Formats: sequence, structure tokens, C-alpha cells
Amino acid sequence: MAQADKEILVEWLRDAYALEMQAIDLLTAQVGRLQHYPEVQARLRRHADESRQQANLVRSCLVRHGSDVSVVKTGLAHFMAGAQAVMTSMTADEVVRDVVATFAFENLEIGTYRALLAAAQACGDDETRRVCEEILRQEEEMASWIGARITEVAGTYISRRDDFDFGAAKR
Ligand SMILES: [Fe+2]
Repeated sequence: MAQADKEILVEWLRDAYALEMQAIDLLTAQVGRLQHYPEVQARLRRHADESRQQANLVRSCLVRHGSDVSVVKTGLAHFMAGAQAVMTSMTADEVVRDVVATFAFENLEIGTYRALLAAAQACGDDETRRVCEEILRQEEEMASWIGARITEVAGTYISRRDDFDFGAAKR
């Protein structure tokens, strides 16, 4: 493989690792706010576990290329988490914002792993390609699942918000 191709692969694997770390933080925070939506809560908890496994898989790809994750730039992922924290920090409808943000975040991960497939292919790295395909399937399932529930969650919030707000964050 060309050295430049390998550098791209490693760079993008590091981006993916940073995304998984952010995903774990976001999902864990959201699980704590979803007590009124047990089905969504259970699914996000499961995906937080999947994300931990994904991070380990991505890390093992980096290690095989002689790289590691001790200094991982957070870039876009960090921005996304920050933006989401601002979006959800003061509002009673944060659960609705959470599911919208999760849908966006899963799609960011999907794009990242689709690009990584090309980099793995260029390097002839079949193991990384296999890992990315496996993770991609999980991200696509999560995006599709949460995407299909946004309208329902928003509708539940709108019809029951007086029960849910408990006087918090009244505007
Ligand atoms: Fe993920």
C-alpha cells in the first residue's frame, strides 16, 4: 500500500474512534433523560454498549497499523457534542432534541464508515474493511430505528408535556 493511503486510513480511523467516544458520552447522557420512553431508553442503552465494542474494534485496527488513540483529535465530534449540550441544556423538550441529535449523529457515523471502506480498500486492508462493514450495519440499524421514532416521540412529548415537565425549565 502507498504510504499516503495508509496515512489517510489511520487519520480516518482516528476520527471514527473520536466519534465513538462522543457517541458513548451522548448516548449515556440521553439514557438518563429517557425515563418516560422506556423503549427508546433500552435501545439507546444497547447502542451505547455497541459503541464501546465499536471503539475497541476501531482501536484494534489502529494498533495493527502501529498507531494508537492516546492523542485523538475530536474535531467535528467535539463540536457536535458541544452544540448538543447547548441545545438541550435548558429545555424541557430535550428528549425530542435528543432523538433528533442522535439521528444526525448516527448519520455522521454512517458517512464516516462509508468513507473508511474506500480507504481500507485502497490499502488492501481486508480486516479493517470487515470491521467497518460490521460497524456500519449497526449504525445503519440505529439510524433507521431512531429515525422511525422521531415523530412518535415528539407527538408523545406534545400530548403529555404537562405530565413530563415536573415544573422543570418552565419558559
Ligand atoms: Fe458507533
